Amino acid sequence: MTDTQTATGAPDDIRDAISRRRTFAIISHPDAGKTTLTERILRAGGAIQLAGNVRAKGERRRTRSDWMGIERDRGISVVTSVMTFEYGGCVFNLLDTPGHEDFSEDTYRTLTAVDSAVMVIDAAKGIEDRTRKLFEICRMRDIPIVTFINKMDREAQDPFALLDEISSSLALDTTPATWPVGRAAKFVGTYDLRTRELHTTTTLEQSDPRMIQLGEDLELIEAALPEFDRESFDAGHLTPVFFGSAMKEIGVTDLLDALVAFGPSPRDQATETRTVHADEPGMTALVFKIQANMDPNHRDRIAFARVCSGRLSRGMRLHHTRTGKGFALHTPQFFFARDRQIAEEAFAGDVVGIPNHGTLRIGDTLTEGENIRFTGVPYFAPEILRRVRLEDAMKAKKLRQALTELAEEGVVQLFRPQDGAQPIVGVVGTLQLDVLQARLKGEYGVGIGFDSTPFSLARWVTGDHAKLDLFAQTNRSSMADDLDGDPVFFASSAFMMRRTEEMNPDLKFHDIKQIG
Ligand code: G4P
Repeated sequence: MTDTQTATGAPDDIRDAISRRRTFAIISHPDAGKTTLTERILRAGGAIQLAGNVRAKGERRRTRSDWMGIERDRGISVVTSVMTFEYGGCVFNLLDTPGHEDFSEDTYRTLTAVDSAVMVIDAAKGIEDRTRKLFEICRMRDIPIVTFINKMDREAQDPFALLDEISSSLALDTTPATWPVGRAAKFVGTYDLRTRELHTTTTLEQSDPRMIQLGEDLELIEAALPEFDRESFDAGHLTPVFFGSAMKEIGVTDLLDALVAFGPSPRDQATETRTVHADEPGMTALVFKIQANMDPNHRDRIAFARVCSGRLSRGMRLHHTRTGKGFALHTPQFFFARDRQIAEEAFAGDVVGIPNHGTLRIGDTLTEGENIRFTGVPYFAPEILRRVRLEDAMKAKKLRQALTELAEEGVVQLFRPQDGAQPIVGVVGTLQLDVLQARLKGEYGVGIGFDSTPFSLARWVTGDHAKLDLFAQTNRSSMADDLDGDPVFFASSAFMMRRTEEMNPDLKFHDIKQIG
C-alpha cells in the first residue's frame, strides 16, 4: 500500500497492520495438490501442529472437520475454514475452500473475501475443469492470481507448454517467477527469476545437464516472455508462475516470499453508495459465510466476517446495517484450522468468526455507525430444484424453521412457491442435497426425502411492479419467493426460459443475485 492511497487518515499502526495482511485462497481441481500445498504452507508459516492436523496421512480430511458425519463418510471437505499464520513479517489468512466439485456456492462466496488466489495446477494435467470455473469467478472480481505448477517431481508437460496453455486457455498473461531445475525424478529445485537465486536441494556443478538446460531456458525466457508487471497483476490480467513440488517441499517458500513481496494487501470494497478503502479508520466488515453447529456439543452459529477497513476490537458496539440495529461484539474469534481463539483485535483483511443466534446473514455489513451495505456477495441460480417431502407430518413446523436456518447458512437455497405448495430447495450440486438431508436429521431430528419438480432452471425476476405482479399472477405455479422475499421464476427448460424472456421484454431474469 503506498502513501498516496492513504489519504483517509487511519493512524500509522492501523496502516502498517493492514499493509502486512495477505488474505488468499487456493483454487484447484481435485487432486492437483491443494491439501498438500496447504499443509506445506502452514508448516513454512510455523504452524507445524496445524500442518499435522491437516495432513495426518489418511486421516487428514477427517481431522479437519470431523464434526460433520457426511464429510467423514465421503472423505471430502464441504466446509470452509480459515487458517491464520505469520510469515516474512506478514499475517496470512488462508481461506480454505471446499474440495469437492459439487459443492461450489461456499467456494464462490469465499472468493469474495480474498485479495488474491493461488491457482494450483497439476504439471502433467495442466488446466482442468474446476480450475477453469474457479478462475472465472476470480476474473469476475479481478482477483490477482498467483500460479503454482505442482508435481514437477513427476513426469510433467514442458514448462513453456504449460505457460502457453495457461495464457491461451484462460486468456491470462503469464510470466514465470521461478524456473524448474531438472525435470521429473531429477527435479531438485527452482531458479528465482526475480532475485536470480538458485534454490536447490543439492549443489549442482555448472556442467550438470540440469544447469545447462536452465541456462538455455533462461535465454529463451529473456528473449520471449514478458517481465512481471505489478499493475497488470493487481488488475488480475497477468499471473506470475511458480514451479514446484508440494510433496517434496520445493517451491513453497518461493511462493510465500513472493506473496510477502507483492501479494496484494487488502483491497477496496464496493458498497451500494461508495467504495470503502481498507485503510479508512472506521471499522467495516462483511459477512460472507455462516456456519452453524460447528461443534456438536455446543450448538452454535458462527458468522465469518471479513474486516474490510479499520480496526475491529473485542467489545465494540457495531451497527448492523440490514436491520438498523446495534450489535455487541462480545467474542469475535480467530480460527487456526481446528482451534479457535478470542480475537482481541483484527484489521482489514482478517477474518473473524462472530457467534450469534441467527442475527447475522450472508452478505450483511457491520460498521461503527455508517449506513452502508457491501455488494458483491453472490447467490447463483440453482441448477437442481427439488421439493422437500417430510417423513413425519407432525414435524412441519420444525422443518420450516430448520430449512430457514440452513438456507440462511447457505447450505441450500429455499424457495416458497407462491401457490402455497411444499417448499422447493435449490442447489448448484447434488452433494448439497445430501448435506441438507444429513443435517436436518442429525441436527434437527427431521427426516426428509426429495421429490423431483418439473423445473430445471430458476431466475430472479425484477422489473416494474405492475408488470411483475401481472407476470406472477399469470405464472403462479412457476413462481416462488426466496429467503429474502424476492420473486423467482422457475422454467422447465432453457428453451422455455428463453421464450419467457422473449415474451416479457420489460422484465429482467437474473442468474446471479448480488446480496448486500
Ligand atoms: P487435493 O487437495 O488438491 O485434492 O490434492 P492432495 O493434496 O490431496 O494431493 C493429491 C495427491 O497428489 C496425493 O496423493 C498427494 O500426495 C499427491 N501430491 C500432492 N503434491 C504432490 C507433488 O508435489 N508431487 C507428487 N508426486 N505428488 C503430489 P494420494 O496418493 O492421493 O494421497 P496420499 O496417499 O499421498 O496422501
